[in-house]
Amino acid sequence: MENDTFISKIADEVRAKLEGERSGHDWWHTYRVWKMAKRIGEKEHADLAIVELAALLHDIADWKFHDGDEAAGSRVAGEMLKAQGVSEDTIARIGEIIQEVSFKGIGAVRVPSTLEGKVVQDADRLDGIGAIGIARNFAYAGCKNRAMHDPDIKPDLHQTKEAYVKNQSSAINHFYEKSLLLKDLMNTEMAKELAEGRHRFMEEYLDRFYEEWDGEM
Ligand code: NI
Repeated sequence: MENDTFISKIADEVRAKLEGERSGHDWWHTYRVWKMAKRIGEKEHADLAIVELAALLHDIADWKFHDGDEAAGSRVAGEMLKAQGVSEDTIARIGEIIQEVSFKGIGAVRVPSTLEGKVVQDADRLDGIGAIGIARNFAYAGCKNRAMHDPDIKPDLHQTKEAYVKNQSSAINHFYEKSLLLKDLMNTEMAKELAEGRHRFMEEYLDRFYEEWDGEM
């Protein structure tokens, strides 16, 4: 099968599964990661078929929603790819990327072992910063019934995956616990450049947020 036809078939399947998901890992998150990963992958001369498929499948069964089962994503992805006749070797490569890209707290950062994994991780992280990152932080807090902001609760840098999963903090604290840390974790040059602009935008946003909070603006 033509690569493009095959990839859009997987995209349709992923869309059907993730549509309606409201915590920030919905189809449109996957769509943005897919487009960005393709763009970075082209620049980095990565294997684009692997990059696109891994990006499309990276949140198919997000570990946070499967009682911490980290293998769920690669297992579900593997089943979908196998049904399309994809080789065991390619399935293994994509499965490895899915396991490596997920963020589990700043103390548990993992650098993917392949260029394709680094590209997908960068695209996923870029979607956590900038204007989209801001929107996702608030959407996620709302979905989890957490506060938008509570000045009495200080941010907590989660050093372990367990601490990150248990965290109950506000949308604003999530900037300090995750979003503002992502810029320094980018793997590729292109992602580092894009992250700079998105990071600056979040800092400006937060300055303004606090000014409005205290009635100064
Ligand atoms: Ni993601």
